[in-house]
Amino acid sequence: MRTVAKFAIACVAAIAAIFAISALTGFFTHGPIPNEAAQLQIEQPSTEATEPEQAKAVATTQPVQPADTTVHPPKQDAPAGAINIAAGKKLFRKCKACHSATKDGKNKAGPNLWNTVNHPIASSEGFKYSPAMAGLNSETWTPEKLDAFLLSPKGVVKKTKMSFAGIKKQADRNNLIAWLAQQADEPISPEALGLATAGGGAAVAAAEGQTEEEEEQTVVYRDPPPATQAELTEIARRVGELEKSLPDLDYERARWHPIHFKPAISKASDAECLTCHAKVLERKPLDVAPAGIKAKDALAWYQTLDTYHGDQQTFHYRHIESPFAKQVMNLKCNFCHQGNDPREESPGDVTRGDGQDGAFALRKMVNPTQTCLRCHGQYDYELMGTGPWPEYRTDVEDEETPNGCLSCHGEAFRTNRHAVTYLKAASIEEAAKTSSDTCYGCHGGRAWYRNTYPYPRNPFPGMDEEIPVWAKDRPTQSEEQYRLSTK
Ligand code: HEC
Ligand code: HEC
Ligand code: HEC
Ligand code: HEC
Ligand code: HEC
Ligand code: HEC
Repeated sequence: MRTVAKFAIACVAAIAAIFAISALTGFFTHGPIPNEAAQLQIEQPSTEATEPEQAKAVATTQPVQPADTTVHPPKQDAPAGAINIAAGKKLFRKCKACHSATKDGKNKAGPNLWNTVNHPIASSEGFKYSPAMAGLNSETWTPEKLDAFLLSPKGVVKKTKMSFAGIKKQADRNNLIAWLAQQADEPISPEALGLATAGGGAAVAAAEGQTEEEEEQTVVYRDPPPATQAELTEIARRVGELEKSLPDLDYERARWHPIHFKPAISKASDAECLTCHAKVLERKPLDVAPAGIKAKDALAWYQTLDTYHGDQQTFHYRHIESPFAKQVMNLKCNFCHQGNDPREESPGDVTRGDGQDGAFALRKMVNPTQTCLRCHGQYDYELMGTGPWPEYRTDVEDEETPNGCLSCHGEAFRTNRHAVTYLKAASIEEAAKTSSDTCYGCHGGRAWYRNTYPYPRNPFPGMDEEIPVWAKDRPTQSEEQYRLSTK
């Protein structure tokens, strides 16, 4: 396709055009910012025994990994009110991002919690408490006080800097406090704390036997499967047909080829697009612009970041061909180019209202809010309670835990992620072991938008059954067209 090559434009211009689009469409709304007060109001008295329900939610609404669905219901014969220290340990995953609880463990975003129960408040050495917390230093963390604090940190210590919504279920708080009481020079038994009811002692032992099974309840990440032989054969057949038709296609016919429109484009393979558009992957940016400016002298701001490797490259190279792109994602042509709506293109269309002539331009095939925003939105630190990442990470990252995202997302929150055809879930986790830059790159580090993408909230093991206010309008699964069924 000589003509295609002739008319193809430099990718630099394409990227400039995208920024124009993003400037216009950057106002993607998302749910209300989480409001602690509002969240507390919707808290209901504990409903107990929701773990089996949770298990069901995970098993039925989660399309993937058989391994995830092996949730073990609690022993039915455990008496009500019995303490489960092992469950308390598991709950501490919610706290681990900010607290260590080992002897001489270091202070993170929050103080070390060794010797907490029945010890003075705000007494962890070297931690800079808020004035509100420091002012309580003459009191001790009795089980009752801890219980109230863990139900609603800001409700009890109004100006505490612990940003944590609270633990709603009484049983969970009891178990957590019972476990915390073991993290001490002189551990205190649940009975001595007044937590366990008669018969609770036996239940402690029974419940502890369960831990190993419960630990297995982790998510298995998988990359999308490679194309099957049958799919490859079908693609080859279609490319063959396309090639046969080329001699009959003039420029206009090729330009209006049905493959650019729905429904054909949804099923098109990259190989078909590349039959005519091979150049999009072969092009290199110019060393010297027509105006005489050298590429080396005209760095874009993002080229100065640590996340940018190698020379300036084209947009398509960065998303399909670069080593990092190949490692973490699997973007097909029709992920971004989803097809034109010819109705938006008719010349002289008075309904457009933007004063623009609707001359035909296949450019509109890319909708940035459905594509770019997923990986180039802002890091939503208000939702996560971390503050801006570049500052927060210094508190939670060290040689042992080089990826601070995983202190929360390793075991506690949203651990059932990226099961979509256009990402490589397993490779992402692998790449992310050594640095949070991998995660932050797609979730804030290369933000072209001031707003965030409203991610679906796939059910994850240990998920609270109560939906936070901000998540009420969120989808609970990835879009169907990309969802991976990993049977
Ligand atoms: C996002 C970070 C964060 C999370 C998550 C978090 N905390 Fe905290 N926690 C803090 C901070 C910060 C403080 C200090 C508060 C202050 O000075 O006002 C604190 C203080 C405390 C204290 C008082 C310690 C003392 O020395 O008096 C306790 C107890 C505590 N947290 C328990 C927990 C438990 C249990 C969990 C999990 C259910 C948890 N926290 C989750 C950040 C966090
Ligand atoms: C039969 C050859 C052929 C096939 C197959 C084909 N295209 Fe095209 N495409 C063209 C021609 C010719 C043009 C017009 C080129 C121009 O004006 O620069 C065009 C234009 C485009 C444009 C707009 C370029 C611009 O500068 O406005 C995009 C984007 C595009 N094609 C994407 C695709 C995608 C994605 C596929 C696969 C689903 C595909 N094409 C398959 C021939 C083809
Ligand atoms: C990550 C999203 C994304 C992917 C994946 C992608 N494109 Fe593009 N492509 C774009 C954007 C954005 C533009 C610029 C559109 C504009 O100018 O408004 C573009 C421009 C183009 C153009 C016209 C400009 C040029 O560089 O020639 C063609 C042709 C094209 N793409 C073909 C393809 C083909 C073929 C594939 C698959 C091999 C592909 N694209 C994959 C986002 C993507
Ligand atoms: C699935 C995630 C994903 C989507 C969707 C995506 N990008 Fe990217 N983008 C990346 C990654 C990852 C890199 C870094 C690639 C590399 O370092 O080689 C990147 C790099 C870039 C760069 C180069 C800057 C840099 O830091 O290397 C630009 C510009 C860019 N993207 C714009 C866009 C636009 C515009 C769109 C929408 C048409 C888009 N991206 C869609 C993940 C994505
Ligand atoms: C202090 C704990 C904590 C840390 C550290 C943390 N997150 Fe989160 N993150 C959360 C919580 C809590 C949620 C909401 C969980 C839920 O849905 O209940 C969340 C949600 C998210 C979401 C989904 C947002 C949405 O709009 O649905 C993304 C994406 C995310 N985190 C990415 C990251 C990345 C990337 C990092 C590291 C750069 C990170 N997080 C670090 C606690 C944390
Ligand atoms: C190549 C880009 C990319 C990288 C790298 C990446 N993410 Fe994501 N992440 C996405 C996209 C796109 C989605 C939305 C997927 C969907 O629609 O299901 C997402 C979804 C999420 C969600 C919400 C999941 C849910 O279903 O509730 C969380 C949390 C998250 N990512 C955290 C992380 C963490 C932690 C890392 C590092 C280990 C990371 N991401 C690395 C692109 C990326």
